[in-house]
Amino acid sequence: MKPIGPLMWEHRLIEKMLSSMMRHIDNIEKSKNVNPLIIDIAVDFIRTYADRTHHGKEEEILFRDLVKKDLTPDLKKIMQELLDEHVWGRNKTAALVAAKEKYLEGNKEELPCIIDLARQLGNFYPKHIEKEDKHFFYPCQEYFDKEEQVRMLAEFWEFDRKMIHEKYNKIFDEYSGLSL
Ligand SMILES: [Fe+2]
Ligand SMILES: [Fe+2]
Repeated sequence: MKPIGPLMWEHRLIEKMLSSMMRHIDNIEKSKNVNPLIIDIAVDFIRTYADRTHHGKEEEILFRDLVKKDLTPDLKKIMQELLDEHVWGRNKTAALVAAKEKYLEGNKEELPCIIDLARQLGNFYPKHIEKEDKHFFYPCQEYFDKEEQVRMLAEFWEFDRKMIHEKYNKIFDEYSGLSL
């Protein structure tokens, strides 16, 4: 298997999850009411899976190794765009969490903001994924020989293995700091 294989499987789950979130957002708009769980579950998915686990492998392994290669100007440009888009996604997710917190504190006028931010994220991910799937991953993998690809794939699995522990250490830190 090539290293872009698992990245592309992950894209499929991200697409399904975000499309499901978009359906929930349509219902929220109709009912004018947010069950915070709908946002919390989507935010956890985006942060832990789409950003930390998936973008983590892209940035900390694939892009890290691509920087050492003599990429075409076009691929270099796309890689910078992808990095910028990851940052954009993080900022929008943080804004979504902030809007939901304000809503829970009683600011009902945050509802359109929640809907807008969630939709921005739901529209963003498929385009970002398409750019990687159709214009970046295939030409990029040509820069790695077979041995480098085997090593990268092993590093991906190791990265994934650590994620569950990182996630639950973080949960513990948050949980132990709660004063409810
Ligand atoms: Fe990405
Ligand atoms: Fe990706």
